[in-house]
Amino acid sequence: MDEQIYFNPWDPAFRDNPYPHYKPLYGRPPHLLNLFIPMALVANYADAVEILGDHRRFSSSDQANRTFEEQDRTLFAGAATMLFSDPPTHTRLRKLVSRAFTPKRIKDLEPRIREITATLLDRAASRGAFEVVADLATPLPVMVIAEMLGVPPGDYEQFKHWSDKIIESDNVPPGMPLPDEIKQAAQELRGYFAQAIESRRREPGADLISALVAAHDEDDALSAGELLAFVLLLLLAGNETTTNLIGNGMLALGRNPDQLELLRSRPDLTAQAVEEMLRYDGPVQSTVRYNVEPVEISGARIEPNTTIFVILAAANRDPARYANADKFDITREPIGHLAFGDGIHFCLGAALARLEATIAFGAALERFPRLRLAERDAPLRYKGSYFLRGLSALTLAID
Ligand code: HEM
Repeated sequence: MDEQIYFNPWDPAFRDNPYPHYKPLYGRPPHLLNLFIPMALVANYADAVEILGDHRRFSSSDQANRTFEEQDRTLFAGAATMLFSDPPTHTRLRKLVSRAFTPKRIKDLEPRIREITATLLDRAASRGAFEVVADLATPLPVMVIAEMLGVPPGDYEQFKHWSDKIIESDNVPPGMPLPDEIKQAAQELRGYFAQAIESRRREPGADLISALVAAHDEDDALSAGELLAFVLLLLLAGNETTTNLIGNGMLALGRNPDQLELLRSRPDLTAQAVEEMLRYDGPVQSTVRYNVEPVEISGARIEPNTTIFVILAAANRDPARYANADKFDITREPIGHLAFGDGIHFCLGAALARLEATIAFGAALERFPRLRLAERDAPLRYKGSYFLRGLSALTLAID
C-alpha cells in the first residue's frame, strides 16, 4: 500500500535504518513521489539491472534537471567526470583513465596495504582499544590512495577532512544553497591537487597522477579540468566507500557472532564474506539515473527527466533474488550483487576495494583473536549521507 511507503533520504532517522522502508517497494512497479523533485524509487533487483544496463534511456547526467548542479559546479568546476557522464564522453574518459588505473598498479600495492594495515592495528593494540572506524577503516583507504597518487601520506588527514565536508553536501536538499564551509573545502581540495598535478608535470614519477598527466598530454586527451576532476572523484568515490565497507562489515560480523566465529575458523572465506558484506549492507545505498524519454518499468509509466533512485542496497535484499535476504550469511555466494553498480559505470575501483577489505578483515581477526562488539546493543551513529551509508564510530573489544 502506498501509504505504508516512507522514503526521505534527508531524514536522519530514515538514514539510520532505511531497510524496513524498502520492504513495501518490492514486487510492484516503482513508487513515484515528489519530494523537492519528481522521483521514482526502484527496489526490484530485475528493474535495477535493466536500468543500469541501458545507459541510452537512463542517463547518468542530470542535464535536464540540474538538480545537483551547485554541488557539481563547486567541486568539478563544470569538467566532465565519468560518473556523471554518458557515452561518448564517458567512453573517452573511462578509456583514458583505465590505462593508468591498471590491475597491475593495484596488485603492486598489496604489500603496502598489508604493511599499512599492520601498523594501524599495532597502534590500536598498544592502546588496548579498537575503534574500527577511526583506527582502521578511515585511514587505510586514504593512505593507500595517497600512496597511489604519489602525494605525501602525511597529508591524508588534511584531504580526508576536505572530502568529509564535501560528502556532506549530498545532505543538502536539491535546490538549496550549499553552505560556505562546503564550498571552501571544495576550493581547498581543488587547490591542493592542482598543485600536486603541476609538480608531477615538472617531475613525473611512477605514480597514478604522473600516468594521468601523460594521458592528458596525449592527442585525444584528458583536459586539465578533467584530470583534476578525476583525481577528486577518486578521493570521494574511493575513500568513503571503502571506509564504510569496513565499518558496516565489522558491524555485521559483530552482530552475528556465529558468522564471526565461522570466519575466524575459516579465514579462507574472507573474500566471500566481503562480498556478503557488500550485499547485506553496502556502502552505496542508491545511485541515480534520469530517463531521457518516457519509459515503462514493471508496467509503470515514468515521465521524462524523473530522478530515478536505483536503490542498490534494496535490490541486494530483494527476496525475489536472494533467499533469506535479510540474513547475513558468509557461506552464501552473493552472485550478481549490485553494490558496485552494473553496466558501463561498474565501479572502477572494485578490485582495489575488495583487496583492501579482504586484507583488513583477515589481519584484524588474526591480530585480535577475541575481537567482538564492545557493547552488543549500543546505539549506532551514522554519518550524514544517505547515498554513502557508514557509521561514525564502532568500538570493538579486543581483550
Ligand atoms: C567498497 C567500496 C566501493 C563501493 C561500494 C563502490 C561503489 C560504486 C558504485 C555503485 C559505482 C557506480 C555508480 C553508478 O553507476 O552510478 C561506482 C563507480 C565508481 N567508483 Fe566505486 N565503489 C567503491 C570503491 C571505489 C574505489 C576504491 C575507487 C577508486 C579508488 C572507486 C572509484 C569509482 C569510480 C571512478 C567510479 C565511476 C565509474 C564510471 O562511471 O565509469 N570506487 N563505485
